[in-house]
Amino acid sequence: MTELFNTHFSQYHKVQTKNIGLRNIEVADTKICAIDGINGKLIYRGYDILDLVKKSNFEETACLLLNDDLPTEKILDDFSHRLTEARNIPEDVEKNLKNLPKTANPMDVVQSRVSELAAYDKEKGDDRHANYNRAIDLISKIPIIISYWERIRTGKEIIPPSSNLGHAGNFLYMLTGKEPDSEIARIFDICLILHAEHSFNASTFAAREVASTRAHMYAAVSAAIGALSGELHGGANFQVMKMLLEIQTEDRAEQWIKEKLAKGERIMGMGHAVYKTFDPRAEVLRELSRRLSEKTGQPWYKITKKVEDITEEEMKKVKGSDIFPNVDLYSASTYYMLGIPMDLNTPIFAVSRAAGWTAHVIEEKFAEAQPKPMLYRPKAVYVGKYCGPSGCEYVPIEKRVTPS
Ligand code: COA
Repeated sequence: MTELFNTHFSQYHKVQTKNIGLRNIEVADTKICAIDGINGKLIYRGYDILDLVKKSNFEETACLLLNDDLPTEKILDDFSHRLTEARNIPEDVEKNLKNLPKTANPMDVVQSRVSELAAYDKEKGDDRHANYNRAIDLISKIPIIISYWERIRTGKEIIPPSSNLGHAGNFLYMLTGKEPDSEIARIFDICLILHAEHSFNASTFAAREVASTRAHMYAAVSAAIGALSGELHGGANFQVMKMLLEIQTEDRAEQWIKEKLAKGERIMGMGHAVYKTFDPRAEVLRELSRRLSEKTGQPWYKITKKVEDITEEEMKKVKGSDIFPNVDLYSASTYYMLGIPMDLNTPIFAVSRAAGWTAHVIEEKFAEAQPKPMLYRPKAVYVGKYCGPSGCEYVPIEKRVTPS
């Protein structure tokens, strides 16, 4: 037995994994989303995202993601009505929000409130129906948590939801206290459609991984929110806006980008693990950013475009490789011009992605795609100390020496 272990152990010890970051490793089947990274296509349940942004709205897109096809009028009415009805949070959750330090990071706030909602769950059991209801609740309540938090931390009155407004318009209204005009509400609605789903990205994989243990939906979604908070994932658009504010004017962009690249730093909002061409979401957001710049007279679209162009040119010149904007490059300035505080950019990603996460949790739990999913359990290659067949000799604490 020891010999067998040793042979295996020393074999593993000599190699390093080739699967760092699980790139291109297929771990499950899904019917929810397809990404063609070569041709720059994003498909939700068979429908092209570029078609959905023209013809659909967030409510219908969320309903599509949670079901197998576009809803009938009756199903969509019922779904939208249920989303509107669920625009509230338990009183104690609101009280707890008020007790948090005003400096708390909004992503930490939303993550912990989502965990807290588990304690108020009215559903019995863990069947598909209960999880569908939880999904509607979470999609509806995440924006409520964020808008309440924004009002509380800035010392303003909480704005009660309006049942006359759609998901996008109501969120902006609760955040700012001002009903958005129809163009602004539609721009934000398109942003929500674009961010609603993106296959096995880090946060969705986190949600599915947690769901694979049969943990409940709140645990899975709060894990996803944690994953989304990192700057290489959802946190990138906050970093993009920080960059734009530092650059300030279009004519300073070239030098700024060149200096960063020369130091080996990454330009946020550029590059993607899957798209090796233009991210189709970036294309739509570029136009939204342009429209908003025109509407508000702000310079951010032009500065962002310069960042895009210079980064592409420099990467080509220095590394001989192509790089394209990702979803975060133009969403940063779009949100900024919508009057959304910068540190809410990533929480807004969660407002929208709640639809994708919950659809994936349901798929993971109820094996809607075959083969049936199972508990995720990847393998690591041990490259640590090797000190003989039974490991290192345990040295009593008083005999340990400080490493020089
Ligand atoms: N700025 C500068 N260089 C970049 C870059 C960026 N944004 N993105 C990738 N590169 C470079 C890397 O430095 C690397 O160069 P090297 O081969 O000389 O080391 C090469 O391109 C490949 O990078 P890698 O991290 O292997 O590519 P990836 O496809 O796994 O990276 C991201 C994907 C998203 C992690 C990466 O593009 C990135 O860090 N982007 C900025 C963060 C961001 O916008 N995230 C949001 C994603 S939606």
